[in-house]
Amino acid sequence: MRSKIIGMILDNEKDFMSGEEISKKLGISRSAVWKHIKALKEEGYDIESVNKKGYRLKEKPMDLLSSQNINHELKTKFIGKNIIHFETIDSTNTYSKSIAMKEPEGTVVISEEQTKGRGRLGRIWDSKAHEGIWMSIILKPDILPYKSTFLTIIAGASIAKALNDLGIKVGIKWPNDIILNGKKLCGILTELSAEIERINYIVLGIGMNVKNKDFPSDIENIATSLYKEGYEISRVDIVRYILCELEKNYIRYIVDGDKKSIIDIYKKYSVVLNKNIYIIKNEEKELVNCIDINLDGNLIVKRSDGSIDEIISGEVSVRGENGYV
Ligand code: BTN
Repeated sequence: MRSKIIGMILDNEKDFMSGEEISKKLGISRSAVWKHIKALKEEGYDIESVNKKGYRLKEKPMDLLSSQNINHELKTKFIGKNIIHFETIDSTNTYSKSIAMKEPEGTVVISEEQTKGRGRLGRIWDSKAHEGIWMSIILKPDILPYKSTFLTIIAGASIAKALNDLGIKVGIKWPNDIILNGKKLCGILTELSAEIERINYIVLGIGMNVKNKDFPSDIENIATSLYKEGYEISRVDIVRYILCELEKNYIRYIVDGDKKSIIDIYKKYSVVLNKNIYIIKNEEKELVNCIDINLDGNLIVKRSDGSIDEIISGEVSVRGENGYV
């Protein structure tokens, strides 16, 4: 009900909408409308109430990642139809795992802040309040567990495509870091719960730095935010674009079995393809030329002795010849 009310107020843009009109359209009493408006104000919506005129939004709530804002004009079939929004939480991935069995596929958990945000390889993911997009998507694909690694490729391709469509010229550093001007803007943490032949659920965690002005000293040379690179784009739009692309590519893979068009997108935005890169395994570093990314999303590299090898993600990390990428 609350999302319908805010949807009506959003649709009405700068005009007032009377309590009576809302109550008639939704079939609830005017005092019920008033209670919902009060709760929406507490959630952070800047709603103006004027006697005899009704309600309107003073400011477009561009920046609140609430379910109402994201859902408004979200053109997906199932991803993001159920959005759980927190002001603060330990980690959206941890929370998603705790509810994944009972919530529908496509559920999105998003928080303004994470107090225990997690990155890959057990690292901490800095997730300050209102500075970024910290969200997790619950998926339940009917595929064999080993095929789930491709979902990270899908996520990378979808995020890169969504951001480029919004005019943000990002690339993908294999396997799944989103790079802007040579620094990391966004990371993906995929977590899986499965039995031998069946996936229970996958949690796709996405962390994007949007408004961060500075970073801890140990990562300041390799991390960046949209703000630092001069972009000012609504987080709500970014989330909507990502969810749309993600759903498109997810259906391509799960329903149509089409990996080719996803890899084509991935390759288009790859920042390692046709470059010399270092592959790092344990303490060893080797300079190779990346000649292709195959249909499984693995790197095909040419070694200095001319031999060709396939590199699987998870086995190695990658660095550019002259820096992070
Ligand atoms: C990486 O190390 O590159 C992956 C970072 C993933 C961070 C996101 S933020 C939302 C979700 N919740 C978490 O605790 N981690 C992921």
